[in-house]
Order: sequence, then C-alpha cells, then structure tokens
Amino acid sequence: MSGIKIRGTGRFAPAKIVTNDDLAKIVDTSDEWITTRTGIQTRHHCTTETHTDMCVGAARQALENAGISPEDIGACVVATFSSDYLSPSAACMVQRGLGLPHDAVCFDLNAACSGFLFAIHTMECLLAQAPRKYGLVIGAEMLSRFINWEDRGTCVLFGDGAGAVVVEWREDYPSIHAVLGCHGDPDMLGVTGAEKPEPARIFMHGQPTFKFAVKAVPYCIDQVLEKAHMTIEDVDFFVFHQANARIIDFAAKKYHIPPEKYYKNIQKYGNTSAASIPLVISELHDLGKVGPGSRVLLVGFGGGLTWGGALVEFA
Ligand code: ACO
Repeated sequence: MSGIKIRGTGRFAPAKIVTNDDLAKIVDTSDEWITTRTGIQTRHHCTTETHTDMCVGAARQALENAGISPEDIGACVVATFSSDYLSPSAACMVQRGLGLPHDAVCFDLNAACSGFLFAIHTMECLLAQAPRKYGLVIGAEMLSRFINWEDRGTCVLFGDGAGAVVVEWREDYPSIHAVLGCHGDPDMLGVTGAEKPEPARIFMHGQPTFKFAVKAVPYCIDQVLEKAHMTIEDVDFFVFHQANARIIDFAAKKYHIPPEKYYKNIQKYGNTSAASIPLVISELHDLGKVGPGSRVLLVGFGGGLTWGGALVEFA
C-alpha cells in the first residue's frame, strides 16, 4: 500500500462576473436557453488577473489551509491548456510566485477537462520518488482568451478560474486508484492550434460530446470502484467535471446518488475545464461537506478525448 490524501484546498476566481443577460446583449442567446440547456447562470472572466495570478492565489490558499509551508513541497503539477506562456510553464511561475524549492518537480500537463485527474495521478507517482512528500496539484484555466464570440453554441459555456489541493504521500495511505484514458479525436472538441493562421479558438460539437460524456462518466465510476474493490455506498461524495448540469444529474440518477452526496457549482463558474473539479473540492471543503476521513470519487471528461476517475481521501 502507498498513496496520497488531500491535506488542504484553495481556489481563485477572477473578479469580473459575466451573467447570461450580459451575453444576451452581444450574442443571439437568452438566459432561459443557457440556464435550461446547461445550468450556467454566471461565469468569471479575467480582466487584470493573469493565469499565473489564479494559480498562485489558489495554491497559496491551499498551502495555508493545509498548514504546509512552500519549502515542504516536493512537486507541483498544473493541469491546464491556457497558461500565460507556452514556456515557461504555469508550474514554473508557481515555483517563482510561492518560492517553492528549486528541486521541486514543477511542470504542466494538458488533458483538457480531465486534466486534474491526470495531474493528481501523476502526483501520486511522483511523490513516491520525491525528497519531500507534499505535492501541489492545481487545475487552472483562462478560457476567456480562447472564446469564439461568433459561435453561440460555445461562447456561453466557458469561464476562468483555478483550484488547488495539497496532497501528502505516505506508505500507509491507500492509492487513489486512478483510471485514465484517451481516444485521439481532433474534430469533436478542442482549441485550434498552431496550424491555423487565426488566433486559437474553442470549437465543440455539442451533441456528440454530450453523448460521449454520458458514456464516459459511468465507465469511470465503475472502473474506479472495481479497482478499489468498493461500491457506490462506500463513497462519501461524488465530484463531477462541471460541463453541463444535465450530465451531472444524469449520473446522479443512474447511480441513485442522493442530493447531499454530490454538488454543482456550474451555475456560478460555467465550464472551467481542468479547474472545475478542484474548484468544487475547495468549495465543498470550506462548506464542511468533506473533511478528514471523507472518501471522494472524482470524474472528469473532455477534450482529447480524455476521461478519468479517482477515489481520493482527505487526511
Ligand atoms: N443560445 C440560444 N440558442 C442556441 C445557443 C445559445 N447559446 N447555442 C446553440 N443554440 C441553438 C442551436 O443553434 C440549435 O438551434 P436549431 O435547433 O435551430 O439548429 C439549438 O440551440 C440546439 O443546439 P444543440 O447544440 O443541439 O443544443 P444542445 O441541447 O446539444 O446543447 C450544449 C448544447 C449545451 C453544448 C450540449 O450539447 C452540451 O453540454 N454538450 C456537452 C458539453 C461537454 O460535456 N463538454 C465536455 C467538456 S468541454 C472541454 O473539454 C473543453
């Protein structure tokens, strides 16, 4: 046995809040359409804040919450595809911003909306070899920089934000039993890249993505529970990637998960991709819905296509 548990959580959302009515003034849409189809009511967009500000803000709060100082950190992984620079990485900027030790292993990882799952699994593997046994796992996105304002099907969905957790690796902790996967598909959803002369922009075919998501979520839940030799009843809380309230409600219904065991904040933040899962975890932690001893099942899915699940405990 060996693995990680969460010791502290933090989050950062930029100050500017964009409502559905604000969007209806510039795009052919309505509060009614966005709310009923997605559950989103507002989202945060960066104005003066940078991606680095969000990462450092969330990570600093997580360290304080954990009672861990920066010099105790052995590794920092940021899940993102929207950092301030292609290089240096967001994680290097966190090293600088927080004064993490120079031998801490700091790098970024891109698995789109599943990024936090890929990052926390990577951290579990890394810390087994690291000189210090605390790690920072951050999910952060500044998606407002990629919004295609000509596409009403996507421009209403995405927001900016960051969430962070401090984890501790110990030989007597259980593994998080991560299940990760991908199916390379450059057409379904993503962000246009260097091959295009225009600026990078988000694209998504909503309905096939929806169908992919409602298959990926049960797959991840079943696989993680099987790997961990546990059942739905052994899980204290379920945290789903916040892409669409209907996808979350579908999963809750399918597994008979009672309302007090899952949570939605998509109404406030929209879809923040890799940031959505740690934003939920941090809010739940502050609300006292999860804490020492809680066993939380995380599920992510998104661009790549990618998917992932894990069963994480709080120390
Ligand atoms: N306002 C008003 N009408 C709109 C809007 C809008 N913002 N957007 C689309 N419409 C219209 C369409 O034009 C279409 O009109 P038509 O019937 O006259 O052609 C109608 O609404 C229905 O459009 P759909 O795209 O079929 O709407 P759908 O019910 O599928 O909802 C949505 C779209 C919300 C995007 C949904 O498909 C979805 O949530 N998909 C999954 C998203 C997801 O899980 N993403 C994964 C993670 S994202 C990532 O990794 C970056």
